[in-house]
Amino acid sequence: MTSRTGLPSAHSSRFVFVSGVVSVVGLAVSACGGPPPPPPSSPAVQTVAAVADVHSYARPQDARVTHVALDLTADFAARVLRGTATLSVQRTAAAGAIILDSRGLDVSSVTTRDGRPLDLTRGPADPVLGQALTITLPDGVAEVVVSYATAPGAAALQWLEPSQTAGGRQPFLYSQGQSILTRTWIPTQDSPGVRQTYAARITVPANLRAVMSAEMLTPDGVDGPDGRTFEFRLTQPVPPYLIALAVGDLAFRPLGPTTGVYAEPSVVDGAAREFAELQRMVTAAEQLLGPYRWGRYDVLVLPPSFPFGGMENPRLTFATPTVLAGDRSLVALLAHELAHSWSGNLVTNATWSDFWLNEGTTTYVENRIMEAVYGPARAAMLRILEHRELMDEMAGLGGPADPDTILHVDLQGRDPDEGSTMIAYNKGSALLRLLEQTFGRERFDAYLRGYFDHFAFQSITTADFDAYVRDRLLAGDPARAATVRLDEWLYRPGLPDNHPVAQSAAFDVAAQQARDFAAGTPARSLTTTGWSTQEWQHFIGELPPGLSAAQLADLDRTFGFSASGNAEVLFMWLRLAIGHRYGPAMPSLERFLTTQGRRKFVAPLFTDLMRTDWGTPAARRIYARARPLYHAVTRGTLDPVVNGAAVP
Ligand code: BES
Ligand code: ZN
Repeated sequence: MTSRTGLPSAHSSRFVFVSGVVSVVGLAVSACGGPPPPPPSSPAVQTVAAVADVHSYARPQDARVTHVALDLTADFAARVLRGTATLSVQRTAAAGAIILDSRGLDVSSVTTRDGRPLDLTRGPADPVLGQALTITLPDGVAEVVVSYATAPGAAALQWLEPSQTAGGRQPFLYSQGQSILTRTWIPTQDSPGVRQTYAARITVPANLRAVMSAEMLTPDGVDGPDGRTFEFRLTQPVPPYLIALAVGDLAFRPLGPTTGVYAEPSVVDGAAREFAELQRMVTAAEQLLGPYRWGRYDVLVLPPSFPFGGMENPRLTFATPTVLAGDRSLVALLAHELAHSWSGNLVTNATWSDFWLNEGTTTYVENRIMEAVYGPARAAMLRILEHRELMDEMAGLGGPADPDTILHVDLQGRDPDEGSTMIAYNKGSALLRLLEQTFGRERFDAYLRGYFDHFAFQSITTADFDAYVRDRLLAGDPARAATVRLDEWLYRPGLPDNHPVAQSAAFDVAAQQARDFAAGTPARSLTTTGWSTQEWQHFIGELPPGLSAAQLADLDRTFGFSASGNAEVLFMWLRLAIGHRYGPAMPSLERFLTTQGRRKFVAPLFTDLMRTDWGTPAARRIYARARPLYHAVTRGTLDPVVNGAAVP
């Protein structure tokens, strides 16, 4: 079967019931003259129980979307994507309808493939979850065509003016689906437990290029009367938060046989130099985790408003330009997003309460990749910096008794964004590190590889992880297992006292320099020659509160922090400066806050400013300037901080 797009759409599949659990089998691309079948590593049987997702209206146990075929035109003037989504549906014999998630979509019709109208009922609209779309399915109907347009303010989409790009001449569009924003641009079942393959036909203005988290079928696009059309397909089933699109004036540079980078023409060569080691990272990851199952691995460098460091969209990581330090010092971010090709994209959190399974495992694997490519000393430094972030986050959340410090976080009635804290990342990675240290690398690495093979292309819960780790690792060695205290790690707040601690001789030196400086040694007398970015980060992090303005001036004069081109170093310096109400750093702070919108940087800086009477007027003034540049995700975090109630 072939869709209107000429791309494969339908999958022959059926439900089977395995010990009371609804499972999906036979997700094979249909034959007729179509593309090659998915790689052999692609999904087979969903062996884990379907679990309720409080952030989706869908009832996948009755009827589920298995494939999405998009045919959309990007209208930059109206800031709207318009067209159709054709959904392939699997259902039980009893299911007479399918429920989709949507938020702010303007749905004009729902029909069968041959144009017969289908009944549509819209549920009440919730500001976070959006609106259920219930579509009646007559017997024999296995595909529905939804005609729709996105809202100009769709939270997943950022439409940038030419002035917000590096080149300054062409507009730019990108999507960000995680966690539950895909429903603002695609009407589908927007749950990480509902895996879907996808195909897309995207029409854009003739001088622009579209890229997606999918295989590119038309590298140069095809020119037509309405613009240039690009076609894509992803044959591996993914949760819908991984469907991603970007449109802009994009150039490409290959980095290795299966790796490359996309960016605006003025950025792409610098990005290619910065990411020169990407192919080596892929090789290291494969050695640790088994084959990379997605074909190519490319990175797209976005304009500076991108709200995240990186987003692990399959085959095409989206990355902030703030990673381009000029000296490859921040490439751990690439290791992180690459690691998600296993933890997150291959084995996915089934609900957002299990987010730590994505990010904690990824943070652990990221560090193993960094160790393999850059050596154990660098990896240990990164772990110590992670530990500091974890302690800061724990303190910010209200201390180690706060329920949000539990790995399996309770998100009932909340925006899943509230669960995306450093707890998931760094407490999660500490648990895996503890398992590694307890059972030894050899056993742990075999376990980890087995985990990815066992759960490949499935969405799993913390309970699935718990059962698997007990079965494969803990049960064989009860004495060691007892020392891990797994329940405490997964289900109780705080950081258990058996957490691993990394050591770094280089960081010991940096910490000593920080103490010396605080005790009165002038900056020029400190030993800092040859320091890496990580040593600078540690040095700044170790500086105590209560430094004098003269000491801050001495630091800045000697080390040039306010002018640093390294976003991580600049960020730590600016936090130190705000903590000391150090006015001379204000121009640098204002420049940083108005030239990039990465939430991890801008949210703590505004929050710190808002904590004091000294910083509040500056925060309000700068935010008024910066807000139009920021993505909806960043604005959503900052509006309540800067324009809402005072921060305690
Ligand atoms: N998947 C996340 C980004 C994300 C998390 C988006 C939650 C939406 C909701 C991505 O892999 C990530 O963790 N990015 C980090 C960088 C990383 C090096 C820690 C970031 O954005 O800072
Ligand atoms: Zn991540």
